[in-house]
Amino acid sequence: MHDDVSNRSQRRAGVTALGAYAPERIVTNQDLEAMMDTSDEWITTRTGIKRRHLAADDEFTSDLAFRAVENLLARHGDDALAGVDMVIVATHTPDALFPATAALVQDRFKLAAGAFDLLAACPGWLYALGIAKGLVESGQCRKVLAIGAEALTKIVDWTDRSTAVLFGDGAGAVVVEAVPEPYGLRSVVLGADGSGAQHLHKRAVGRCLPNGDPLAETLYMNGREVFKFAVRVMNTATIEALEKAGLHSDDIRLFVPHQANLRIIEAARERLELPRERVVVTVDEYGNNSTASIPLALAKAVDTGRVQSGDHLLLVSFGAGLTWAASVLTWGPG
Ligand code: ACO
Repeated sequence: MHDDVSNRSQRRAGVTALGAYAPERIVTNQDLEAMMDTSDEWITTRTGIKRRHLAADDEFTSDLAFRAVENLLARHGDDALAGVDMVIVATHTPDALFPATAALVQDRFKLAAGAFDLLAACPGWLYALGIAKGLVESGQCRKVLAIGAEALTKIVDWTDRSTAVLFGDGAGAVVVEAVPEPYGLRSVVLGADGSGAQHLHKRAVGRCLPNGDPLAETLYMNGREVFKFAVRVMNTATIEALEKAGLHSDDIRLFVPHQANLRIIEAARERLELPRERVVVTVDEYGNNSTASIPLALAKAVDTGRVQSGDHLLLVSFGAGLTWAASVLTWGPG
C-alpha cells in the first residue's frame, strides 16, 4: 500500500498494460449439435456465437488468470508489474470460496501486494476498474492489477440447452496506475438492482433467494428477462458514463460492450447511433466469458490495430445481481 499525497487532486488513473488468455480447447456450434438438441442456425441467429473456448478439466480460474498476466508480461515486459500493490480478481467462478483467487495470483508473481476477489458477475471487471481508479486516485495504491477471470463452463448445466450454448472461459488483466492528461478513466458508472436476483443465480452455501425460491445448483438464467434488462441498462449506463465524462457518442472511437449476445450489442449500438465499424465484437469467437469478455475484446482490438493512443473507448457490461457498469477510458499513453 502506498499513500503519496502530492498531486493527489490532479491524478487520474488509466490502463498502462493489458493481457488476455483464452483456453486452447475450442467447442464449435457443430460440436454442440452432437451433444444436445440444438443447431448452429439457432445459436447463430439468436446469439451470434459460433464457437467458445473451454478450460481443460484440470484448468481453473486461477490458471486462466495466471495465463492472462503472463500474456501481459509478454506484451509489456517484466517491469509492467513492478510496484503493483493491489491485486483484484473479478470472478464468480473462483477456485475456492476462500482463499481469494487474487491471493494465488499475488503469490504466483511474488507481488508485495494486497489481494481480494470481487463478485459483481459479468460487470465485475469494470467494477474492478472502478475500485482501482479510486485506490489510485486517492493515493491508497500505486498500481493495481485488475483481472477478470472466469471458468463459467464448469458451472453450466450441460443438459440445459438454453444456457449451455452461451458461455465460454477466459481471462483478461490490466495494470491501472496514474497516467498524464489526457489519458485515463474519465468515468466509471456502477449499478445494481438485487430485486432481479431470481433471474440469474447459482447456489454457494445458501439455500434460497430472498423471495424463497431455491437457489440453483448450476447456473440458472431466465434469458428473456435478462435480455430485456440488458438492452435497457446498456443504454442508460452508457449515457450516464458519457455524461460523466463530458463526451458524446460521436467522440467514441470504439464501443467495447460485454460480449453476451450479438442482438444485445446491436440494440445498444443503434441506440448510441454508432456505425458498426466502431463496435468490437468477439462474441462469435469466445461466447460469453463474463468478466473476461471486455478485456479479451480490448486485446483483440489492440492486436488488430483498432485502438490508438488518445482514443476514447466506451465500455459497458451487465449481469447477475442484477448488476451493470460502464466506463469511458481514454487509451494510452503508449
Ligand atoms: N437450441 C435450440 N433451441 C433452443 C435453444 C438451443 N440452444 N435454447 C432454447 N431454445 C428454444 C426454446 O426452448 C424455445 O422453444 P419454444 O419456443 O418451443 O419454447 C425457443 O428456442 C425460444 O427460446 P427463447 O428463450 O425465447 O429464445 P430467445 O430468443 O430469448 O433467446 C437467449 C434466448 C439467447 C438466451 C436470449 O434470451 C439471451 O441472450 N438472453 C440474455 C442472456 C445474457 O445476455 N446473459 C448475460 C448475463 S450472464 C452472467 O451474468 C453469468
